[in-house]
Amino acid sequence: MPTFDVSSASPTKVTADLLVLPCFQGRKPGPGVAEAGAALGGDLMDTLKANGLSGKLGETFSFPTFGRLKAKYVLVVGLGPEEKAGPVEVRKAAIKAGRAAAKFATVATTLAQVGDPEASAHALAEGLALGAYRFTRYKERPIDEDSSKASQLKRLIALGNGTGGRAAVKEALRRGQIYADAANWARDLVNTPAKDATPQFLASEARKMAALNGLTCKIWTKGELEKGGFGGILGVGSGSVNEPHLIELGYKGAGSDQPIGLTGKGVTFDSGGLSLKDAANMEWMKADMGGAAAALATMRAIAQLKPKVNVIAAIPSSENMPGGAAIRPGDVLRHRGGKTSEVLNTDAEGRLILADALAYLVEKKPRVIIDSATLTGAAMVALGNDLWAVMGSDRDLIDDLLAAGREVGEPGWELPLWTDYRRNIESTVADVKNVGPRWGGAITAALFLKEFVGEVPWAHLDVAGTAFADTPTDYWPRGATGSPARTIIRYIEGQAEANGSRRATARRRARPTTR
Ligand code: BES
Ligand code: ZN
Ligand code: MN
Repeated sequence: MPTFDVSSASPTKVTADLLVLPCFQGRKPGPGVAEAGAALGGDLMDTLKANGLSGKLGETFSFPTFGRLKAKYVLVVGLGPEEKAGPVEVRKAAIKAGRAAAKFATVATTLAQVGDPEASAHALAEGLALGAYRFTRYKERPIDEDSSKASQLKRLIALGNGTGGRAAVKEALRRGQIYADAANWARDLVNTPAKDATPQFLASEARKMAALNGLTCKIWTKGELEKGGFGGILGVGSGSVNEPHLIELGYKGAGSDQPIGLTGKGVTFDSGGLSLKDAANMEWMKADMGGAAAALATMRAIAQLKPKVNVIAAIPSSENMPGGAAIRPGDVLRHRGGKTSEVLNTDAEGRLILADALAYLVEKKPRVIIDSATLTGAAMVALGNDLWAVMGSDRDLIDDLLAAGREVGEPGWELPLWTDYRRNIESTVADVKNVGPRWGGAITAALFLKEFVGEVPWAHLDVAGTAFADTPTDYWPRGATGSPARTIIRYIEGQAEANGSRRATARRRARPTTR
């Protein structure tokens, strides 16, 4: 884990492998650019111009300093228009810088001097750590020096003291790092092949994480799931030799308050089951536990950030395989709490395991429930790879999640929870059936889940499009993204902040007004 520090050193004097300097649209120099140019004996903005660069967001240009600065290389990164440059832009620039920084040990930057120093320091640390992420666990003999090697990043030096002082900047760096480390952990879990990342593996990773971070943890085994009536988790897992599990985690930061309930789809491999998928792209179905990974990562970050709120997570994990004991089309499963579902397509399995987890969470009387799941190809068809879909029963919850997503640069979009389509999942033999017609597939999937959340305010994030990138983008390499972990972490922190101010208001109101 790299260390992130603050320093008041001048950009020309700081010892580092790479010095990252921001510039704004129209080649307006950002903090440190003029000093670095003077020491280099030139005008960096002229150099950008000669190379056809304008300071657009995410643009990068790097060159060696050959001893004229203490830093060995300079990377100029574009932030876009100066008046619009805030934390979201700093994070994007830092992700770009992080991708370049992964081959260096020490990186110094003035990026945290852009806009609000603390918000920028948070975004800088988060972006740099996200950008420097590499999945190299299975690279035994790297031949390509650049992309196959683990990240070399050891140290980030944020230049400048900020207005709230160095301690405040340092604290913001620490918090940004927590967000990114959590998301990067989720990426590791998602990128790990399904042969290794079994339900048992997810459970043991969760148990280790919980012990390290002071969370309570209970792993439900197959036998316990049978006694507890978790027919969905068991049914989906029955075709696999890898037994299903339910991972229960708890965080207490607010005494006896009602907890926030979390769950996520943990299908460690989705072959489709007897309703077998096509061979094309089936390898990506190792990522079908992206929602579970995000929920686990959220719990890890929350344990480290310690917001004043309670959170419980119940994360179901099964492997969906076509074995001799697999569920068949036409089978009826009995879920936790007693509701039944008719399985007409064994490839609509995510909703079957989430149903049990949602019903279980409802028993805990949470104030809200959030689930995230790589649930439907239909959500991906609707919104592509940049946006997760959200549907739910509570306006405020949905709005808060959308706002949190925008804030962390992981945006979503709402789809309607069109309750008239409930008719499409009416079953003739059970309480509900697990598939409707092809059209509106993301909505019927959400309506299936809704059957199991009772009256609890609930939101469902369909992250089929955002949890992993098949083709790399400017900001994400091929593979897992950690979406939507940072969104949910931000949402929970926001709830704790609102909680705090609500309590303060209540205290003020309760104070006697007589003298
Ligand atoms: N895990 C898939 C959804 C998925 C597809 C996620 C592609 C990421 C990328 C899910 O279990 C599934 O198979 N959904 C089916 C549902 C259908 C059978 C009703 C789908 O979307 O086609
Ligand atoms: Zn699936
Ligand atoms: Mn499926």
